[in-house]
Amino acid sequence: MIQKILVANWKMNPQTLSEAKVLVNDIKKISKSSGDTRVVIAPPTIYLGEAQKMLAKSNFSVAAQNVSAEKEGAYTGEISAGMLKDAGMACVIVGHSECRARGESEVEINKKVLAVTALGMTVILCVGERERDDEGYYLEFLKEQIQTGLRGVQVKSIKNIVIAYEPIWAIGKDAKRVVLASELHEMSIFIRKTLLDLYGKAMAYKVPIIYGGSVDAINARDLISNGAVDGFLVGRASLTVKSFSELLLITKSSGSPKSVRI
Ligand code: PGA
Repeated sequence: MIQKILVANWKMNPQTLSEAKVLVNDIKKISKSSGDTRVVIAPPTIYLGEAQKMLAKSNFSVAAQNVSAEKEGAYTGEISAGMLKDAGMACVIVGHSECRARGESEVEINKKVLAVTALGMTVILCVGERERDDEGYYLEFLKEQIQTGLRGVQVKSIKNIVIAYEPIWAIGKDAKRVVLASELHEMSIFIRKTLLDLYGKAMAYKVPIIYGGSVDAINARDLISNGAVDGFLVGRASLTVKSFSELLLITKSSGSPKSVRI
């Protein structure tokens, strides 16, 4: 059975360590109420160590928002998968559309996925189309993103993969609109089918599929009840403990498993 997952992607927020500590501290208070939902907090890199220390004894884990594709050496400004592992990270977000928009290539993303899974950490692989065309090419686009992102990932590492479907048109403050639960349901089936073709039934059903893009306490219940997803990757609504705790409540009370069997 797939575990439900709620991921907080803080992006480049908040601006000071003291604010970050307040937020982590508030979030820690709700960690006892997570039930069987896996909760992952992804603060900016500079706060990772502190967040890791503060959450070490809770059942929430800490993730990095990105990682270098390289192992070590002359890569100014980069942080390797090995360093994240050494700092106690359980998870890394890879291929977020905001990183892709700054030039991260499919090849790099695939190298990152391999580097992280090789060390036994979980990859939250973000995929999603920029826009929807009437011909349905966006489906092919999404399939290719998944196939290239996971190229070379061995069957034994598939348990360390989470797919985050994040259509770019639904992300952030400039989002066109939120995805409809019916659209999400379709996409979940499509992603599951793509995984089935790659890894076969037994393994493909081990991969959680989560949704990200303008998730909040108002739309989350419908999306998780009718969208056939196993949880959420949340940006803005993860920055206050009030909205994040509402999302945790919705996620954990949504029943399980959420993923469709096809
Ligand atoms: P948002 O961000 O929830 O603020 O739309 C989601 C994401 O980019 O992961």
